[in-house]
Amino acid sequence: MITIGFPDTIDAAPHTHIVVVGPEMALSPAAAAADAALQGRLRDALITARFEGDAGSIVEIIAPVGMEATRLLVIGVGPADKAGASVFEKLGGAIAARLLSSGETRASIDLAGISVALPLAGAAAHLGHGAMLRSYRFDKYRTTMKPKNKPTLEAIDIVGVPGAEAYHAQLSAIAGGVERTRNLVSEPANIIYPESFVESAQDLADLGIELTVLGEPEMQALGMGALLGVSQGSVRPARLMAMRWNGTGNPDAKPVVLVGKGVTFDTGGISIKPAAGMEDMKWDMGGAGAVTGALHALAARKAKAHVIGVVGLVENMPDGNAQRPGDVVKSMNGQTIEVINTDAEGRLVLCDAICWAQSQFNPEVVVDLATLTGAIIVSLGHEYGGLFANDDGLAGQLQAAGESSGEKLWRMPLGDAYDSLIDSPIADMKNVGSRNGGSITAAQFIKRFINPGVKWAHLDIAGMVWADKAGTLFDKGATGYGVRLLDRFIADNFEA
Ligand code: BES
Ligand code: MN
Ligand code: ZN
Repeated sequence: MITIGFPDTIDAAPHTHIVVVGPEMALSPAAAAADAALQGRLRDALITARFEGDAGSIVEIIAPVGMEATRLLVIGVGPADKAGASVFEKLGGAIAARLLSSGETRASIDLAGISVALPLAGAAAHLGHGAMLRSYRFDKYRTTMKPKNKPTLEAIDIVGVPGAEAYHAQLSAIAGGVERTRNLVSEPANIIYPESFVESAQDLADLGIELTVLGEPEMQALGMGALLGVSQGSVRPARLMAMRWNGTGNPDAKPVVLVGKGVTFDTGGISIKPAAGMEDMKWDMGGAGAVTGALHALAARKAKAHVIGVVGLVENMPDGNAQRPGDVVKSMNGQTIEVINTDAEGRLVLCDAICWAQSQFNPEVVVDLATLTGAIIVSLGHEYGGLFANDDGLAGQLQAAGESSGEKLWRMPLGDAYDSLIDSPIADMKNVGSRNGGSITAAQFIKRFINPGVKWAHLDIAGMVWADKAGTLFDKGATGYGVRLLDRFIADNFEA
């Protein structure tokens, strides 16, 4: 990710100079100065380019005579009353996308005197945040990339805005969490598997996070037959990891528990998936990735909340020791499950992880995140994560956090009629219903493991963790979805 600075003046070293313009060609002071220096030719250029000042639209002018810059970028901010945090993130994203592989290493943007719908320091910090997020790349395995395609942009200086550093530091902590999640999700399954996932999280201790890791013998002793049944076809041993951040100063504060599905590769097991597209299942640990990145973000910005992330880490493989369709397994809390389809493994991992989290940490609120069903992609596409909750207040808090972070959630139903679809003739339940309403029956399955009185939400994020095309704040690939959502959710509801 690129670096964001807030110097007092623009460095004379070679750079792209960026100025902003509102609709109706309302030039900012810096844009007006550039126009004057160019004897009115800037306005002419904007008219020629049919530029109307829409938020995020860009006109690029190469090295105009009389300017101390390699190029001049004019970017629209749109109407002043709409120019809030998310618009400035979008601007930062648009700038980063334009300049990332442009050959330019530095850019400066002058925001002095612009009219916006939030304090100018916030606008500057959010612009920087958007630029950081959009500049992330995962190029470590490309050894033959043409120099022309390599990212060049290293830093953006934002000038004309005093006092943005503290705000920027908070957002930068969050960007660090997003980056961690994207790295975990991007890595292939021969690199990230349960043990190496745990290994990669060790440095969270430097941020003040307390880590607890269970191996298979401990999980066996606790009776986690559902999670271990998924893992038994893999040579990679399973892990359960808890990450605790308590920033309240009160050791007895009741925690919020976040639980993530961490299937580091999902072949489907004996109910094996088709070959086409199976490589995508390296990101079936996106829930665990989001929870880990969220804990990073919360600790890095020293959130005044008590939050525990729990990730259930397994690899779902078919082999001579794999579980079979029809096997009956027993969860930690003693419920029996008939495994009809070994590809419905996420719920089997989550149920034991959630049982353990409840018995261990006595939470008031549990939120789980999982790439649980293909059916949620059929329902919602790639615009919203699916939200299931047993509490309207909690659902509202999560939806609000989704709107303000831009990582949106759409509420889905739960109910007894759906619940009865997973009754089994020989055990307490089966792990799949019929094809119809597949995301809902998956959620009903998890609900059977929530203790009375616990407020619970389940986020089915199968459509959100990976993108086939770039968005405003991410390139194609791992999106880091969930980190900013969870951070907002905690900030708005659990911080004093
Ligand atoms: N990890 C998958 C869900 C998934 C599918 C995520 C496509 C992202 C893209 C999950 O473990 C799974 O295989 N679910 C099955 C459930 C079915 C067997 C009831 C599915 O969605 O097909
Ligand atoms: Mn599966
Ligand atoms: Zn899966």
